[in-house]
Amino acid sequence: MQKILINGGNLLQGSVPVSGSKNASLPIMAASILTNENLELENVPDLVDVNTMSAVLSSLGVNVTKKDVNTNRLTLRYSDSEITIAEYDLVRKMRASILVLGPLLARKRHASVSLPGGCAIGARPVDLHINALSKLGAAFELDGGYIKCSAPNGLKGNKINFSKVSVGATENIIMAASLARGESEIRNIAVEPEVMDLIDCLNKMGAKIELGENRNVHIQGVDQLQGAVHSIIPDRIEAITYIIGGTIIGNDLKITNLNLEHISNVLELLNELSINYSMGENSIIVNQSEISDGIDINTMEYPGFPTDVQAQMMVLLSLGKSKSQITENIFENRFMHVPELNRMGANIETKGKTAVINPCKGFISAQVMATDLRASVSLILAGLVAKGETTLNRIYHLDRGYEKIEKKLQACGADIRRIN
Ligand code: EPZ
Repeated sequence: MQKILINGGNLLQGSVPVSGSKNASLPIMAASILTNENLELENVPDLVDVNTMSAVLSSLGVNVTKKDVNTNRLTLRYSDSEITIAEYDLVRKMRASILVLGPLLARKRHASVSLPGGCAIGARPVDLHINALSKLGAAFELDGGYIKCSAPNGLKGNKINFSKVSVGATENIIMAASLARGESEIRNIAVEPEVMDLIDCLNKMGAKIELGENRNVHIQGVDQLQGAVHSIIPDRIEAITYIIGGTIIGNDLKITNLNLEHISNVLELLNELSINYSMGENSIIVNQSEISDGIDINTMEYPGFPTDVQAQMMVLLSLGKSKSQITENIFENRFMHVPELNRMGANIETKGKTAVINPCKGFISAQVMATDLRASVSLILAGLVAKGETTLNRIYHLDRGYEKIEKKLQACGADIRRIN
């Protein structure tokens, strides 16, 4: 089992380049099933989750090749294989495997995808995916832990109104409706930048997707889609993670290759905390900052405060002078990092979906354990400022979503290393 060791206290300086977005790469890779031509992707992050999606797609007949070892460029080409089963042993490693469901239904008119199952942060049901795809004419049954679905007459456009905003369900239905017969009007979609990047890529492939007002989208189904070349947007969650790191222990830390528009909600929050930063065209410079006032944060769907940086924000707020609170409205169990942070000296109390972050005297190094992707990085942030050596176990969570994290931090002066 690999571990990460951190000797805290070194100021972070220099620059950190943000990689391509994990959560845009995964649906866009699944979109390769929608065409028999090459889908050329650039700025794809080198992550465990991307490799898992490559394995799932390969098992379904997609030829996935890296342009060359060092660049983040993938070419995907679907061979219209007869295999339409996404097996459990792959799907259990990554819930986002469910994103092959819509494309397989659209191309092959049937699919079996293992139920992804829950994860540390919640039950993660897929009812919204199933209900929406049913509206396009798909019939579903749950059998032996698999979602089995078929649309013998193909998919037909329809009006769909999501009762709840769901990133993955939005992505599945948009991919399926792109090849359905006729028009679809879909209401209450997720509008995360990653969803917008998928729509941008699909339209480059010849889809006819038009964004309306207030989370509405109109899709005119087409007979087939072509290949395309697409560059993945920067990872806003990774960017915010390093920005928070810089406000904890940075000295003119510059985060580069990011899209400032995608993180405007978090920048507003830093303003509320009177945290100074300076912005370039696609970069930001942050410094270690003292936080005097408390703040009350609610995680919300985009453009609200992202749930994926809730854990990281807790570390920053723990170093503030006043009490703050964060309410987790998206997932039902996303405070698994709290006991670990408290073992490092934080003073966080959770009650239901709200966590109260009391000021603490600073972090102390400890042996800690990662529970999910974003929790693991919050422990790294605490370790960077804690006195002494922090050991982080179960770092496979980390490698799912943060490309070369210890190398990026070492380059900024952090005393961090990975050991077997
Ligand atoms: C995506 O997950 C992201 N993953 C998550 O990032 C992110 O936290 C989440 O969106 C919210 O922004 C990817 O894009 C690969 P949802 P997704 O469907 O699509 C409930 C990370 O760390 N729900 O928007 O699974 C669900 O349980 C990951 O990178 C249903 O009830 O999220 C949750 O409470 C973690 N029924 C809420 O909706 C459904 O059918 C939002 O989930 C689907 C979801």
